[in-house]
This record gives sequence, structure tokens and C-alpha cells, in this order.
Amino acid sequence: MARLQAPRGTYDVLPEAAAARLALETVARRILEGAGYERIETPVFEATDLFSRGVGASTDIVQKEMYTFTDAGGRSLTLRPEGTAPICRAYVEHGMQVRSQPVKLWYLSQFFRHERAQAGRFRQFWQVGAETIGSDDPAVDAESIALLMAILTELGVGGIELRLGSLGTPATRAEYREELAAYLRAHEDRLSPEVVARIDLNPLRAFDADHPGTREVMAGAPVLMDALAPEDAEHFAEVRARLDAAQIAYRLDPTLVRGLDYYARTVFELTSDLLGAQSAVGGGGRYDGLVEQLGGPHTPACGWAAGVERMLLSAEHRPLPREVCDLYVSGTGVPAFALAAEGRRAGLNVQLELAGRSRKGQRKQAARLGADVVALVDDDGSIALEDAGSGEQKLVAGATAAVAHILKGRHL
Ligand code: HAM
Repeated sequence: MARLQAPRGTYDVLPEAAAARLALETVARRILEGAGYERIETPVFEATDLFSRGVGASTDIVQKEMYTFTDAGGRSLTLRPEGTAPICRAYVEHGMQVRSQPVKLWYLSQFFRHERAQAGRFRQFWQVGAETIGSDDPAVDAESIALLMAILTELGVGGIELRLGSLGTPATRAEYREELAAYLRAHEDRLSPEVVARIDLNPLRAFDADHPGTREVMAGAPVLMDALAPEDAEHFAEVRARLDAAQIAYRLDPTLVRGLDYYARTVFELTSDLLGAQSAVGGGGRYDGLVEQLGGPHTPACGWAAGVERMLLSAEHRPLPREVCDLYVSGTGVPAFALAAEGRRAGLNVQLELAGRSRKGQRKQAARLGADVVALVDDDGSIALEDAGSGEQKLVAGATAAVAHILKGRHL
């Protein structure tokens, strides 16, 4: 029989990796909840339509990367490839527009994309994300970025660069595409055949080309950021003024493209030079049209998501101290079990001997766990409480008396 393994692009979080993930969650929660964000979790699968409409039918995610299946009821469902469309769906479904605006939500969830697996790229991965729904204030964009930066800094993620751009509105983008396509056609003879073939399909891809002739042409190409409508240019200037005021450094990137169709106005991406080819730690932007597109009222919004695996790969590891063991219960009979239960009811961290070790072996195990107190329990219910440090013993009768004693001194 073939050996069973975790599916390609997935991984097990083993106990030794749990502490670093808990530290990450703790930092994200403290910073985001401290800024007024509340946790949301949406289902792992959604109607496929949500993503084709929300993320965009022509994106790589929808075209090639979704785990889509038909359930026994004949519905087309998809394992969520991202969190923004589901959260906007929930915002509309629960009428969150009547709450005080903007609604500020955060999440730490799993996502699924059928991408080529490589270092830092998985088919099941985790993101921390934050979405601010119901405000077009440029302060939202700047604050979102500042909070993501604060999390990465606190985690010790090294070599970070923030790239920032603005996409304007869909109407400006459509006009700009035409302008860029016309420019490319006028210089067709110097472009690579692949770029020429895609002029109508996606002229923006020409900015990513390595072909020398194409690169020369693109150096003089019109950029979208110069074509923004006055109110979008003003909004972007307001965002930048706030980032400057908060001393957040960024590089303007007029060709920053994100892999999702819902963005309008501000977009950003954070990379770490400690990562390899998959250097994006997080990214996001404004999606003013998405809630309306999913059937809600016109609702401007902005947010980001950051990859947990990539944050862990590029972070310093400062795991939290592990839970202490207050009481190690040595003994295999019913009275030992009763003492463990009583101790836990009283709020102690209790571990019970489960491996049938010798008394000596049990003392060693208690020392490994850093237990304060070892309780040696006989089958008749008599208990000797032993201070793990000094070895000093105290005899007590019954679980209740033993727990009272431990609580009184914690140590004997
Ligand atoms: P995204 O850029 O597709 O944006 O993903 C955000 C982050 O998730 C990436 O920067 C990366 O760190 C991580 N990530 C993405 N795909 C993978 C993968 N296959 N393996 C490991 N990590 C991955 C979004 O998902 C948007 N929903 C962000 C957003 C929120 N925009 C507005 N609000």
C-alpha cells in the first residue's frame, strides 16, 4: 500500500511549531483589537459564484486556482481562496450597514489555492487580515497600513519594503488601458511577440516583461498614476500625507498590480527580502465597489491580508513561555483521577501520569514539565504532596484537602 502523506502543498502544524504561531496570533490580536477591530470567521467554503463575481472571473485565482466541487445537493461550492469577498458577503447578509460605521473586522483563517507549491507557497495557507468597511476616509487606508506594519515590526519580520500605488476608479482604468494599448501598438516592432499577442488581453503585463526591447519601450510608457481623476489623486495625496506623518516609509510603484479585481484607489504590498521568490508578506488596498457588486448598498472599504507562513519564515522567533504545570499527579488509581479533576476545577494546570512509569520515572517526568508540586496518590486515597524543588513532603487526606493546600501556598 502506498505510504499516506499530507497532500502536496499542505503541512502539519506539529507541537514544536505551535508556540510561534500562538505568539503571532497574540501579537495580531493585541494590535488589531487594540485599534477597535473585532474578530470574524466565515465558512471555509462558499458559493463558487461569490468568488467569480467578487474576485473577478478573469483573475488567475478564479481561472486556475480554486478548489471547486459540487456537493451532494448539486451546488457548486469553493474552498475560499481569500477572505475579503466572504466578509463583504457577511456584511451584506447581516445588514452590518446599520451598525456604527466603519465596521472594523479582523480574521486569522485558512485559505486554499491550487498554486504550484514551493517555498513560502502552499495550497492550504493561513492569513491574518483586517477589513474596514463603510468609510472612504484616507485615514482608513493609512491606518490599515500602519497596523500591518506594527504587527510585522512587533514580530521582528526583517527586510520589509512597502510599495504603494493607486489604481483610481474602474472608469479611469479602462481609459488608461486603451491609452496603454495604443502606445504599445505604436511601438509594436520593438516588443516581444508574447507582449504583442497580449496587447488587447492584458496590456499591463508588458510592465513585467524581461525582454530588453520591451523594457526600453515600457520605460517611456504612460502610467496609470499620472492619469488619475482629480478626486482620486487628492485621496491618494491624503493617504501619503498620513503615512509620512506616521513616519512610514514606502516606495511609489506606478505599476503595482494585485491579483484580484476588486481594488480601486489605494493598493499596497509588503515584501521581505528574507523570503525567496515568494517575497510578498502581505498586501491589500481599497475595494470601494465590492459590497455593492455583491448586492449591498454602495459602501467604500479597505483592507489587507498577510500570509502567516511567510511572516513566520521571515520573523525572529520569540515564542511565548509555555503553560506551567502546577501539579503532577502520580498514581494510576481512581483517587489520582479524582485529584486531577478537582485541581482543574480549582484552576490549576494539572497533568496526570498516563504511562505507567515507576515512581522515579514519574518524578523525572514532573521535573521535565517544570511541575511545582507532585502528588503521590495511593489507591486508598491518601496523598503525599511533594515540593518538586525541595522534595519536602506533606501528607493530606483526600483530593479537596490536597487542592486547598496547594492553593494556599502554591508551593508547600
Ligand atoms: P493576496 O495578495 O492574494 O491578497 O494575499 C495576501 C497574502 O497572503 C500574500 O501577500 C501572501 O503573504 C499570502 N499568500 C497568498 N497566497 C499564498 C499561498 N499560496 N501560500 C502562502 N501564502 C500565500 C488577498 O488575499 C486579499 N484578500 C487581501 C485583501 C484584504 N485586500 C483587501 N482586503
